[in-house]
Amino acid sequence: MWLAAAVPSLARRLLLLGPPPPPLLLLLSRSSRRRRRLHSLGLAAMPEKRPFERLPAEVSPINYSLCLKPDLLDFTFEGKLEAAAQVRQATNQIVMNCADIDIITASYAPEGDEEIHATGFNYQNEDEKVTLSFPSTLQTGTGTLKIDFVGELNDKMKGFYRSRYTTPAGEVRYAAVTQFEATDARRAFPCWDEPAIKATFDISLVVPKDRVALSNMNVIDRKPYPDDENLVEVKFARTPVMSTYLVAFVVGEYDFVETRSKDGVCVRVYTPVGKAEQGKFALEVAAKTLPFYKDYFNVPYPLPKIDLIAIADFAAGAMENWGLVTYRETALLIDPKNSCSSSRQWVALVVGHELAHQWFGNLVTMEWWTHLWLNEGFASWIEYLCVDHCFPEYDIWTQFVSADYTRAQELDALDNSHPIEVSVGHPSEVDEIFDAISYSKGASVIRMLHDYIGDKDFKKGMNMYLTKFQQKNAATEDLWESLESASGKPIAAVMNTWTKQMGFPLIYVEAEQVEDDRVLKLSQKKFCASGPYGGEDCPQWMVPITISTSEDPNQAKLKILMDKPEMSVVLKNVKPDQWVKLNLGTVGFYRTQYSSAMLESLLPGIRDLSLPPVDRLGLQNDLFSLLHKQADMQEEKNRIERVLGATLSPELIQKVLTFALSMSAAPLCRQCAH
Ligand code: BES
Ligand code: ZN
Repeated sequence: MWLAAAVPSLARRLLLLGPPPPPLLLLLSRSSRRRRRLHSLGLAAMPEKRPFERLPAEVSPINYSLCLKPDLLDFTFEGKLEAAAQVRQATNQIVMNCADIDIITASYAPEGDEEIHATGFNYQNEDEKVTLSFPSTLQTGTGTLKIDFVGELNDKMKGFYRSRYTTPAGEVRYAAVTQFEATDARRAFPCWDEPAIKATFDISLVVPKDRVALSNMNVIDRKPYPDDENLVEVKFARTPVMSTYLVAFVVGEYDFVETRSKDGVCVRVYTPVGKAEQGKFALEVAAKTLPFYKDYFNVPYPLPKIDLIAIADFAAGAMENWGLVTYRETALLIDPKNSCSSSRQWVALVVGHELAHQWFGNLVTMEWWTHLWLNEGFASWIEYLCVDHCFPEYDIWTQFVSADYTRAQELDALDNSHPIEVSVGHPSEVDEIFDAISYSKGASVIRMLHDYIGDKDFKKGMNMYLTKFQQKNAATEDLWESLESASGKPIAAVMNTWTKQMGFPLIYVEAEQVEDDRVLKLSQKKFCASGPYGGEDCPQWMVPITISTSEDPNQAKLKILMDKPEMSVVLKNVKPDQWVKLNLGTVGFYRTQYSSAMLESLLPGIRDLSLPPVDRLGLQNDLFSLLHKQADMQEEKNRIERVLGATLSPELIQKVLTFALSMSAAPLCRQCAH
C-alpha cells in the first residue's frame, strides 16, 4: 500500500491528464527551438536581449467594452473594442499589448470632445506590443479608445483558439475558446495585459444562433444580429474589476447540468453534447466547494454564476477564469459507470483548486508574475483542505504526503533545484517556473505554515488579506503581513527562509534520558541527494518542529521554532520506555535523521500501528533518502527490514531493498561522484 502511494504526483497527474504535454514542456521546447534557429543562421554573436519593460503608466483602462465575432468555419475573428481609458499624463501615443492581431482603425475621443484618429500603428512584435500614434496630444482626463481589429482563431491552444470536436453523428466541428494565462489575452484583443492593470469588462459575442456562448458573467441580452439572420449577439453583464488573464469566452455546442449552491450561486457544468451525466460529479463538488470557501475566507463568491466547462483541446489541466473555469475533459468529467475512485479524487482536487483561485488569485491578484508561486502553491494546498472537508472518506491528506510533499522533497534535494520565489522579468519566464517546485513545494510550505499558525489565526489572516486587497493586487509580503498580525508570529522571517532559498534541512536528533525528562539535541544542515552538504555557510531555515511521544501519537507534546543551527529541547515527564518522534503528520518540510537508539525505539510504534500512517510514511521516506549514504549498509538493510517488516510482505521488502541499494550504488551527482 505504501509503495503504490509513493507514485510521484506529476506522473500520476500526467497519467490521468494524458497528452498533450503540459504548457511548461510546450514552452520550453519552443524557446529552445528558437535558440537553435539563431545558431544555424550563423549569427556571430547573440544579439543583446532588450531588457523587458512593463507598459507605461501614462494611459490605463477603466472599462473594456469588447465585441468579438468568431467565424467557426474560416477560423478568423473580428473584434471591436471601446475602452474607457484614463490619460494620466499628456501624451501623443498609447502603448498596449497586442500579438498576432491586425488593427484596422483606432481612435481616441476625450470625454465630450472630438475623436482623434490614430495615424500609425507601430507593432513591436518581439515585445508583443503596439504603439498607437496620434496627430495631437491626448490631454489628461478620461476618454474612449476605439479599436477595430481582426485575428485568427489559432490552433495553438492559447489566446482565442479553435478546439476540434466530433458531434454524436460523427461530424467534425470546431469550438472557439480562450486560454489567456499568463500573457495571451493580447492575442484576442489589444489590451493592457499585466495582472496589476485591472479594469471591468462588458463582453458581447456574435455567434451562430444554435451555438452556446459563454463568458465570465451571466447573459443580460440576446438579440438577432442585424447583418445576418443566422447569428445572434449575446451580451454579458459587466464583470468586477479584474485582470486580463482571467477573461474568457467559449462558443460551441455543449450540454449542461445545473444546480444552485447553498449560498445562492448558479453553478453549471458544461459537457460535450450527450454527456451531461458525466458532469454531475463535478457539479456536486463545485456546489459543496463554493460554500466551503465562502466560510473559510468569510468573503462571499462575488459573481452570480460559475460555469465549469470541459474543453476538447486544452493545454493545461484547468484554468481559473473568473466565473468560467475551463478544464481538460479528464479533469472534469466522470463516467458514473466506468470511473475509479482516483479519477473522482482527481476531479475533486482540480475543481477545489480552480475554485480557490476565484478568491485567491481572481479577487486578490498577484502584483506581478514573481508571486505566481504563491497563487499556485496556495491553491495546491487549499484544494486538499477543501476536498478533506467535502469528502472526508478520501483520506486525501495521505495522498498529499505521498504525492506532492514527497515529490517536492525529491526534486528540491537536487543541486539543480531553485527557490520557490524567483523574480520574473519578462513574462516569457513565467512558464519556466510553473513546475513541481512552485506547485508542490509551494503547497507543502503553506501547509507547514498553516500548521505553525493554527487554523483559527490562519483563517483570520486570510480574511484580513482578502478583504484588504479585494479587487486589487498584492505581493507575497502582503500575505505574510496579514498572517503576522493575525497570529503575532514572525511569519515573514520564517517564510523567507523557505521561499527565497532552495532546498530544505535535515534535522539530526539524539536523545538523552535525564531523570523524568527526555533531552533532545537537534541540529540542522541542508539535505542534499548527492551526499552531506560540504560547502561553507550552510543555509539555515527557521523550522517549525512538532514533537510527539507514544503517550499520544496523534498529538504534539511540544511545538518549537528551530531558529538556530543547533538546539536543545527538554521534554518533561517522558518515561524511559516511551518513544519520541519529530514531525507529527509529516507536515514540516524537512527530513529527520534519528540516532540509532531513537530509531530503534520507534519500532514498536510501527509494529503495533499506533504511529499514524502519514507519520510512518514520512519516516519511511526519510529512511530511504538517507539510506544510500550510510557507511554500514548491512546495518541499514537490517534496520529497514525490521521497520518495514511490520507492514509489508517479504517480496515487497526485497523490492524496496533492491531499489534502495541500487540508489546507493548509482552516482547521483556527476560533479562530485556521490
Ligand atoms: N492557473 C493554472 C493554469 C495554468 C498553468 C495557466 C500554466 C497557464 C500556465 C491553474 O490554476 C492550474 O494550476 N492548473 C493545473 C491543475 C491544478 C489542479 C494543479 C494544471 O493545469 O496543471
Ligand atoms: Zn492554479
